[in-house]
Amino acid sequence: MRKRFSLAATAVSILLATAMSSGMAGGPANERSEAGERWTGEEIRILGSMRIGMLPAAPADRSNAVDRLPAAAALGKRLFNDTRFSGNGAVSCASCHSPDKQFQDGLAVGKGVGVGSRRSMPIVGAGHGPWMFWDGRKDSVWSQALGPLEDAVEHGGNRTRLARVLATHYRTDYEALFGRMPDLAGLPQDAGPNGSADEKAAWSALSAGRRADVSRVFANLGKSIAAYEKTLAYGPAPFDRYADAVLARDPAATQLLDRQQLNGLRLFIGKGQCVTCHNGPLLTDQHFHNTGVPPRDRDRPDRGRAAAIARVQQDEFNCLGPFSDADASACQELAFMVTDPAPLEGAFKTPSLRNVAMRPPYMHAGQFADLEEVVAHYASSPAAALGHSELAHGAGGHGERQPIRLSQREIRELAAFLGTLTGPILEQGRPHN
Ligand code: HEC
Ligand code: HEC
Repeated sequence: MRKRFSLAATAVSILLATAMSSGMAGGPANERSEAGERWTGEEIRILGSMRIGMLPAAPADRSNAVDRLPAAAALGKRLFNDTRFSGNGAVSCASCHSPDKQFQDGLAVGKGVGVGSRRSMPIVGAGHGPWMFWDGRKDSVWSQALGPLEDAVEHGGNRTRLARVLATHYRTDYEALFGRMPDLAGLPQDAGPNGSADEKAAWSALSAGRRADVSRVFANLGKSIAAYEKTLAYGPAPFDRYADAVLARDPAATQLLDRQQLNGLRLFIGKGQCVTCHNGPLLTDQHFHNTGVPPRDRDRPDRGRAAAIARVQQDEFNCLGPFSDADASACQELAFMVTDPAPLEGAFKTPSLRNVAMRPPYMHAGQFADLEEVVAHYASSPAAALGHSELAHGAGGHGERQPIRLSQREIRELAAFLGTLTGPILEQGRPHN
């Protein structure tokens, strides 16, 4: 399933890229929508494909047996908000992914037990892509959740302590979903493969069987949280209502977007070339691109996807690993991933643009303060500090791509259009809480 999704996304972007280079001439019929805006048949097709209503349910994650179980989602929601799963008792997932802040934190880089080097991501819609994090170093929502829990600057937890917190406070709910909790008696307080030197030594001293027991409890913690995260979805925004009206030839379309927003939309799917990467209902191709965003730390630029390839392949919690519920045939994304790091140097995952106006600052380390700054970056398309920007004018980018040139006015129009992508966040189809 997941492979098919991403191949489809690739096909869409190739198709769009072709449409782009042929000047978006579209079909012969230049249809005039009732909004007073002329859209070609091809443009109307693209507008239609970007509507949130076109988003299918997130594919079932076969590596997570409780992926779709309401009881797992209910447990996961409590775990998501529980600060006891942190080294200092003060950090939960919601600290950096606050439901009141678009499931983010409004900061340039994440701040938990310590300070990180990348920006928090919005979670909503994450289940639709094959790769998690800005660099895709995790291949499922559940294995992603395990990362921050053991990360020294995020939750700052360790595996035996986390398993014990779960066993102490959530045993009944856990056992209803996953069967009997293994005996954790006699385990060291603090042990894990990713912690301090002492924690690592204590972990190595455990038998393989006990390590596997603890790791399974840990994996199930992530699987419950993932079930909750997958209940979150974006609802329709003004853009969707406009595109619906255009497709239905509804005269009310005129009222739905103003002139500046409409001009921005036209730039987004045309001259601005945004839709080559930001396509489909979530406005992302789910792929990795180097767009020449200036690194946060010039001396140690972030390699992005290039450094994540080996990590996801070696991750014991990946789709092919011992804690996955999938058989190998369900792990096509991982099995056939691009493994040559060279073209992915400095590449980051294309973020969804749903509700983007609500969550500054922008880019993988909050490099830009507002949307006009983001669009101005595309218009200047600087060379990358590391690797090759796909957008840089005339420089080693992806051969065919034309440089993006935008006037000050067009930059404002594009930013105004991005504001029409803001809609409600839903939990199981209802306003979230
Ligand atoms: C200290 C702040 C912090 C905490 C705590 C935290 N996160 Fe994150 N989260 C981040 C940052 C920063 C990123 C991006 C990191 C990267 O790409 O390297 C991220 C990325 C993610 C993503 C990836 C989304 C995507 O589209 O790829 C998900 C899902 C997520 N976090 C869920 C969680 C869950 C679940 C928890 C609790 C177990 C959690 N986070 C705890 C800061 C945090
Ligand atoms: C080559 C693919 C590509 C093209 C073309 C592209 N983007 Fe992006 N976009 C990305 C990637 C990748 C990122 C994240 C980059 C990073 O953080 O380093 C991004 C980030 C963004 C963000 C920030 C979102 C966030 O949550 O931080 C916005 C807004 C955005 N793009 C809008 C646009 C607009 C508008 C256009 C057209 C002018 C455009 N993009 C063209 C790939 C692309």
